[in-house]
Amino acid sequence: MNADIKSLVAQMTLEEKAALCTGASHWTTTPVDRLDIPEMVVSDGPHGVRRVPDVHSISQKSLPATCFPTASCLASTWDVDLLREMGNALAEECIALNVDVLLGPGANMKRSPLGGRNFEYFSEDPFLAGELAANFINGIQGRGVGTSLKHYAANNQEFQRFSISAEVDERVLREIYLPAFEKAVKQAQPWTVMCSYNKVNGTFASEHYHLLTEILKNEWGFEGLVVSDWGAVRDRVAALKGGLDWEMPGPQERRVKAVVEAVRAGELDEAILDESVRRILTIVFKAKQTPKNGAFDVDAHHELAHQIAVEGMVLLKNDGLLPLQGQQHIAVIGRSAENAHFQGGGSSHINPTRVSVPFKEFKAQAGNAEVTYAEGYPTDNSFRQDMIDQAVTLAQSADVAVLYIALPTFKESEGYDRTDLDLTDQQIALIKAVAKVQPKTVVVLNNGAPVAMSAWIDDVSAVLESWMMGQAGGAAIADVLFGKVNPCGKLAETFPLKLADTPAHINWPGEAGRVQYGEGLFIGYRYYDAKSLPVLFPFGYGLSYTSFAYGNPKVSASRFKDVDGLTVTVDVTNTGKVAGKEIVQVYVHDQKSALVRPGKELKGFAKVELQPGETKSVSIQLDFRAFAYYHPKHKQWVTEDGEFDLLIAASATDVRHSLTVTLESTLNLPCLLDMESTIREWMDDPRGRLVFGVFYEQLESEFRKIFGGGGEFSDDEGGIGMDVMDMMGDMPLVSVLMWQQDALPMHPEDIVAGFLAQAHSLK
Ligand code: BGC
Repeated sequence: MNADIKSLVAQMTLEEKAALCTGASHWTTTPVDRLDIPEMVVSDGPHGVRRVPDVHSISQKSLPATCFPTASCLASTWDVDLLREMGNALAEECIALNVDVLLGPGANMKRSPLGGRNFEYFSEDPFLAGELAANFINGIQGRGVGTSLKHYAANNQEFQRFSISAEVDERVLREIYLPAFEKAVKQAQPWTVMCSYNKVNGTFASEHYHLLTEILKNEWGFEGLVVSDWGAVRDRVAALKGGLDWEMPGPQERRVKAVVEAVRAGELDEAILDESVRRILTIVFKAKQTPKNGAFDVDAHHELAHQIAVEGMVLLKNDGLLPLQGQQHIAVIGRSAENAHFQGGGSSHINPTRVSVPFKEFKAQAGNAEVTYAEGYPTDNSFRQDMIDQAVTLAQSADVAVLYIALPTFKESEGYDRTDLDLTDQQIALIKAVAKVQPKTVVVLNNGAPVAMSAWIDDVSAVLESWMMGQAGGAAIADVLFGKVNPCGKLAETFPLKLADTPAHINWPGEAGRVQYGEGLFIGYRYYDAKSLPVLFPFGYGLSYTSFAYGNPKVSASRFKDVDGLTVTVDVTNTGKVAGKEIVQVYVHDQKSALVRPGKELKGFAKVELQPGETKSVSIQLDFRAFAYYHPKHKQWVTEDGEFDLLIAASATDVRHSLTVTLESTLNLPCLLDMESTIREWMDDPRGRLVFGVFYEQLESEFRKIFGGGGEFSDDEGGIGMDVMDMMGDMPLVSVLMWQQDALPMHPEDIVAGFLAQAHSLK
């Protein structure tokens, strides 16, 4: 322990220590004046700074700050450098606005597209989300401002978010819901991690010893403090024991008293309290090393928000109408053209420094074209045929119609989940009516999560997904529509055809206090792959105004040791007429494994900028974890000898090259055989096979004699019409021997115990 902090902890009274472990206000730690322990200020996050003027008040209009695009848009950039740059800018704003720790990023998985906070989360893929979160954190913390990685863990829905228990297997947690947190902790050491509201397998995340202490702190080496989500603590003493260092918000006199009493009663070891105090003080003093106040460059940050929005826009459909060129008369329709919909509702809501109005930005780039406007749909959910009629009249007389459609807040926000994937009835009717009279129709969407489009997508020429695009997004849309920039974003989540196709559909949103993660490892593209289900737009998909060819795929070794990893290389050529950026993805497919694995998993990606005709060689590293899976019995990440396919792809469904490599595992795992192990398990285990192999041969021939034949569906005289070996393979060895008990020299249990002793003694 740092000497100063150690001595401070020693000087603090029990009451002071208990008070420090709970906030002093909605946004501050508890200072201890007599020991010169200052207060630390935190603010939401994640895509802007929501600093209220008086940090001791609960809710006030926050100070102006740059509203960057939300996480769905950020993730679609697949641009780790840009996220670091955004982190730098956020840190500058925190410094100017006197904020020590920004509450973000969110690293939860998008289990269902219905999740109300999906707009605040990056992806359905843990590798991508982890890379983005780590870079975002490094960008902020590199400038001396802290972050809060949230919401740990399994916060994947808003329905009963304060209480519901996410029922998730250990393997699924380790492979799907935790890796983004793990990567961010290991690569970026966030100053704080925020626990989620919900329970995980029956225990509140705020009290979860396995998640907070065993995994986060002990296994991953998290050095910072764990803060509760606001109001997530039920039992303060249990939470301290679980590993929750700092409760927010405060003050909570009753909780402080409970901690003091628990220590006095010997119910809570004071060393546990001291450890939380140490963690909190370490971060409080670290924060104070960065002097605060000053100003930030409002223009430069607006421009950065603009650039990020450009990179995050995903062109979903284009039959050649885009980029717009040479039109005389353009009808712009939709109220989000005038009233930019650029962020989501809830705790992440930013008071922007300025807002680019999409319609104004559009007109500014439309040259001499006449640009007319109709509102198209109302703010509420009412159906207004008159607005549709007006839009149709306008569209009819124009060369092109551009529809700006924003999913309204009543359909998508923090606090509640969506109930469907649809736009409003009015919006769907509007698109259809306009497209009927104007085939050259472009739909520009503003939303934080996938919407269904089957009802109208075939009727329109182009669709641009522009997300909750941040305060400068209006300009970014115009840039893409007129070809000032070439769109390059790719989806970080699958757009399904319909709700009923989605992975969690029959296990959503849970009941009687529990939500069963029944789809297991198979969320997002892992699910659609496994089911061979068609989707509207796959993970990793996005169009460009140019085209790219992939060639000359190579791998650094065709046979390799897991710990050495590999490098995959591919040449990418811009085969079109304009400069553009391509996002290359590498997925790994394990040809054979002891436990079920998804058909392919993203394990690397790279973004490359290319001039027309230019070729660049792109290299992607794959490490041990790219090939490993979490074994619940071994309680560790394991690799197995064998063949793996490396899929070099432009999207999850557009694989351009496949290379096969052979992995040699360096692991020497302990033997898992026990009294219940099946014949197949004995024969699949290298030690089991050594010990039991010869006996197995005898056993097999005995069974052939008894049941006849032994070939497939043997129906010889005396046979029982089934494949003996298939039948026996999945029976415990001991049960098989029981049948033969009379013919055996010893009791079957003693025989198996002997085999087990031998197998477990082998190295
Ligand atoms: C949200 C957090 C947020 C906190 C403080 C909570 O309700 O879940 O994401 O950081 O409030 O506003």
